[in-house]
Amino acid sequence: MPQDLKEQFVIQGLSGVKSLEGTITVGGAKNAVLPASAASLLSDTPLTLTNVPYIEDVLRMSELLEGLGVTIAKDASSLTLHAKEVHTSHIERESAKRMRSSVFLTGPLLARFGEARFPHPGGCVIGERPIDQFIKGFAKMGASIAHEDEWYVVRAKGGLKGVTIFFDLVSVSATETFMMAATLAQGTTVLENCATEPEVVFLAELLRRGGAQIYGDGTSTIHIEGGTLLAFTESVEVIPDRIETSSFLLLAALAGKHISIENCNPQHVRIMTQYLESTGVPLEIGGNHIRIHSNTKPNTSFISARDIRTHEYPGFPTDIQAPLTVFLTQVSGENTVFETIFENRLGYTDDLIKMGADITVWNPQKMMVRGPRKLKGRELMSPDLRAGLAFIMAAIVAEGMSVVGNAYYIDRGYQHIEQRLRAIGADIQRSKG
Ligand code: EPU
Repeated sequence: MPQDLKEQFVIQGLSGVKSLEGTITVGGAKNAVLPASAASLLSDTPLTLTNVPYIEDVLRMSELLEGLGVTIAKDASSLTLHAKEVHTSHIERESAKRMRSSVFLTGPLLARFGEARFPHPGGCVIGERPIDQFIKGFAKMGASIAHEDEWYVVRAKGGLKGVTIFFDLVSVSATETFMMAATLAQGTTVLENCATEPEVVFLAELLRRGGAQIYGDGTSTIHIEGGTLLAFTESVEVIPDRIETSSFLLLAALAGKHISIENCNPQHVRIMTQYLESTGVPLEIGGNHIRIHSNTKPNTSFISARDIRTHEYPGFPTDIQAPLTVFLTQVSGENTVFETIFENRLGYTDDLIKMGADITVWNPQKMMVRGPRKLKGRELMSPDLRAGLAFIMAAIVAEGMSVVGNAYYIDRGYQHIEQRLRAIGADIQRSKG
């Protein structure tokens, strides 16, 4: 068991008083660093990433890459990955089972070395998370697929061939994995029904910096001209984390007096800024900051469409669904939340209900939230990183003390979260469980 699963956050709530104040800085995006790290396998020159958050998932991905032979140099906020002497295409079992993102390694390994051997990557509490799109796509690009015990063994000894792949569903990781694989395939690959998330565009830009020819990223059709190994000549700055930005916005709207969210990209969170403004929260939106100066309480009663559906970008991200639900427990109005991306991502609501939230879960993907309701602090166990952050938010607005256990899950996605929240006035400490 990782050491900090036993760690916990102890939070003294503000009892609904809006008193947080100051500046909070957004880190580099976890979901951009993970595929970018895998992209280092497409080159025998070093790739340097800057603005890298020092979080558990990034460390685990680095370990997986080191296990393949990639040398990695780290400092406080950068990573240099050099895939010159890769000696195996077997992805280590235990880490892969723990981390869904290990799937990113399959495309580059197969494209560069003609083989990838990997276990079914970890599912998690949010849903089953199949990899059918990967298996179908690799087969279409000419790879053979075998199942040996618990392992998938995918081979394309003569190299992958460029083809057209129409994904059955919009998948961020499948879009990214095939974009990477196609850069080394022979000929043109056309990917259709692609994800358009900013992390996809960031990855395409990174690959282009290494010499790849990629067109159409940010739309549903991406063309890639396959070619030779990439060669990175300059460092690449990781984009700001839009999920962190959105979570800080929601917290600031509930508990902030004057909060400045710095080092973010407001263009990536337009669904959230527009939504908050419609609830009466005035925002000052700059080039790379968003400020909230308000004592007004957000209110959803006068919004006509109060059915929030998670959606692929640029809609409401599924990763913000839990923090958004905490927000809805605190504002006037009745709102439905419909989780459309993952089949099991409402489990955390039981704990919010025990804290005093008025939530009716209709089925595993749909619920009604009525607000405002006073929340009371209690002991909570973080089930995953996003729900974990939602619990921290709930604990901050609640009355009394809460303990949020399983700090490890929160550390997977958020660097030094307690230090950053303390800097704006939250009473949150990390302690041993
Ligand atoms: N899906 C399939 N088959 C596949 C691939 C996906 O059925 O072969 C399904 C999934 O089960 C899901 C839907 O397609 O129902 C969309 O999943 P997607 O593949 O887009 O998710 P992902 O790429 O595995 C990334 C993020 C997630 C984020 C989702 C959706 C990374 C590393 N992870 O996952 O982030 O929730 O996109 O936006 O980019 C998180 O950060 O907490 C997190 C879970």
